[in-house]
Amino acid sequence: MVSEPELSLLFTKDEIAAAVSRLASEIGRDYLTKHPLLIAVLKGSFVFLADLIRQLDFPLEIEFVRLSSYGKDTESSGRVKMAPGAPSQIKGRHVLIIEDIIDTGLTAAFLLDYLRRKKPASLKLCSLTDKPERRRVMVNIDYRGLTVPDKFIAGYGIDCDERYRHLPDIYVLEQ
Ligand code: IMP
Ligand code: MG
Repeated sequence: MVSEPELSLLFTKDEIAAAVSRLASEIGRDYLTKHPLLIAVLKGSFVFLADLIRQLDFPLEIEFVRLSSYGKDTESSGRVKMAPGAPSQIKGRHVLIIEDIIDTGLTAAFLLDYLRRKKPASLKLCSLTDKPERRRVMVNIDYRGLTVPDKFIAGYGIDCDERYRHLPDIYVLEQ
């Protein structure tokens, strides 16, 4: 029989909201007059993006990319794939990537490299969470929300095999 993972609370919705507000004010300071293009990585960042942008009171645009390095496993396969339909008008734009979590760093490194080739005016990375212990490639997180331990997490948009995205808090999955 397959046993259900146990969820233990890591960050409450209030702690998440405080982190999102802080990130919004940092981003607001830097992008007030820049009309940035936010590129959110699907699917995990959609809840974070929705809360973040409603605190950004200046002109901006939003695009999405669908990247995946995980199948059903909780371990990164190490290969990153981009779904068709990636944003094309990058040249000369101030681009800010919106991620849910930086784990090994492979996904963010792939996307940073892909976008850099398209000659944006500037390129920065914002991630709600950071799992630094598992890093395999160096990535600079310009706007960092919450640091998480070397555990698998879910909730607030972040999934485990497509489950738990709807939970308002963030949990550690104890297998
Ligand atoms: P990376 O390429 O290893 O940095 O992983 C980035 C992606 O893996 C994230 O955007 C998530 O989609 C997924 N991921 C990494 N760690 C977790 C986790 O603890 N829970 C759920 N998804 C995760
Ligand atoms: Mg992701």
